[in-house]
Amino acid sequence: MPTMAIMTGIQASGKSTFCQNNLPGYVRINLDTLHTRNKENMAMDEAFQAKKDMVIDNTNPTAAERKKYIVKAKEHGYRVIGYFMQSRLQECTARNELREGKAKIPAKAIAATSNKLELPSYEEGFDALYFVSMTKTGMAVEAWQVSTGTNHAAHNADFCLDGILG
Ligand SMILES: Nc1ncnc2c1ncn2[C@@H]1O[C@H](COP(=O)(O)OP(=O)(O)OP(=O)(O)O)[C@@H](O)[C@H]1O
Ligand SMILES: [Mg+2]
Repeated sequence: MPTMAIMTGIQASGKSTFCQNNLPGYVRINLDTLHTRNKENMAMDEAFQAKKDMVIDNTNPTAAERKKYIVKAKEHGYRVIGYFMQSRLQECTARNELREGKAKIPAKAIAATSNKLELPSYEEGFDALYFVSMTKTGMAVEAWQVSTGTNHAAHNADFCLDGILG
């Protein structure tokens, strides 16, 4: 069964780095490089037709945004895996500051995504869900512990304490 992975995480949380290192062979669907929703849909359809694994490497901060991908994936008989990147606003903003040229985006764009961020849950239809955080040596992948945001925030206390949920 082919897989669709759906990333969730604010800008500079490490989504693309994770895809590159952990999802080799997945077709990467990224709105920033495809530019339009039309081109995004065409790239997805091409991958669906070829039954290729694919990863939606956008910020995907809300359940509503994730839902359209989940529905489409299920229609095509795909397994759906969610990866939530730890999204501490301060850390991501600092990493963005280190970027050069166009890759560096306004800090307030990151804050805006942070403000609308909704933790994913199994109720959205994920077949598997993971919490990913950066470590000194790479990235740690943990199973998503519970299906509710409140309990998950408690489980990942540092994630919660940093105030990323407002
Ligand atoms: N283990 C790590 N520790 C510290 N920094 C890291 C680690 N892994 C990646 N980075 C850095 O974090 C930054 C953000 O990574 P990345 O570009 O993958 O984020 P992103 O979530 O895809 O952002 P965007 O939404 O803007 O595309 C990069 O500058 C990368 O070099
Ligand atoms: Mg990226």
